[in-house]
Amino acid sequence: MGEYKNLLFENQDGIGILTMNRPKALNALNTETLSELSQLLDEIAKDDSIKVVVITGAEKAFVAGADITEMLHMTSAEGRAFGLLGQATFNKIENMPKPVIAAINGFALGGGCELAMACDIRIASEKAKFGQPEVGLGIVPGFAGTQRLPRLVGKGRAKEILFTGEMFDAQEAYRIGLVNKVVPPEELMQAAKTMAQKIMKNAPYAVALCKAAVNLGLDVSLDAGQDYEATLFGVTCSTEDKKEGMSAFVEKRKATFVGK
Ligand code: CAA
Repeated sequence: MGEYKNLLFENQDGIGILTMNRPKALNALNTETLSELSQLLDEIAKDDSIKVVVITGAEKAFVAGADITEMLHMTSAEGRAFGLLGQATFNKIENMPKPVIAAINGFALGGGCELAMACDIRIASEKAKFGQPEVGLGIVPGFAGTQRLPRLVGKGRAKEILFTGEMFDAQEAYRIGLVNKVVPPEELMQAAKTMAQKIMKNAPYAVALCKAAVNLGLDVSLDAGQDYEATLFGVTCSTEDKKEGMSAFVEKRKATFVGK
């Protein structure tokens, strides 16, 4: 992996731990950090030794949003370009065949909440704080918050969060379905790794296709989604992993998957 100024990365036995590392600004996302993230995600996507990715933040924040000092003097054109950069970067997470888990250790505000929402699964520390405070700064969310939040928590709750801009805690995030799980701070990384290990026991290609089916299904009609699922089901029926998974069941042994 390349060297990054604002990111850390470590491959721990197939689990890629990506840490947003700009703690002096609570890991706020400036153009430099987003560009680095985009590049690192490309590297991760190409590396077959990384099976699952965990994204977390250094020190007290996950990510406290887009960088306000950078946005202060942005023109409309620059703002649009910045929004598109953030969206395209987060789309890489959503579209990557590998599962991505957000381990939310602290503030996940604005662009930080949007980053967490682009991940497949969210685990929060009891200390995590969420919110979309953009309207208090005179802007709307720019990294797909208005689109992913209602898909996760429903229209009414999303509008309340977006219109009030208020912060809420991890328990509330769990109650409304924004996060999958809340754990004590000292257990956060282990909880994310345990989740990753559970996923890694299964056929990786089948997991990747589940991700693709869920993602596509939420944007198309039920009929179109079901048609896509049937196609993917057919695809998995001719994989080595299907043969192995089903043979292992019949032979009462543990399956060993190869990812094809
Ligand atoms: N951008 C730039 N710098 C930020 C930042 C941000 N989003 N959030 C925090 N910082 C900086 C602070 O300016 C401060 O820097 P200095 O030490 O140089 O003064 C440093 O990080 C530490 O922050 P605080 O002293 O404010 O820490 P705190 O514990 O008192 O407060 C906080 C924490 C409540 C998260 C507060 O920092 C805060 O409200 N931050 C802004 C949150 C926000 O509004 N995020 C949304 C941004 S808009 C967006 O994200 C748009 C989009 O969708 C594209």
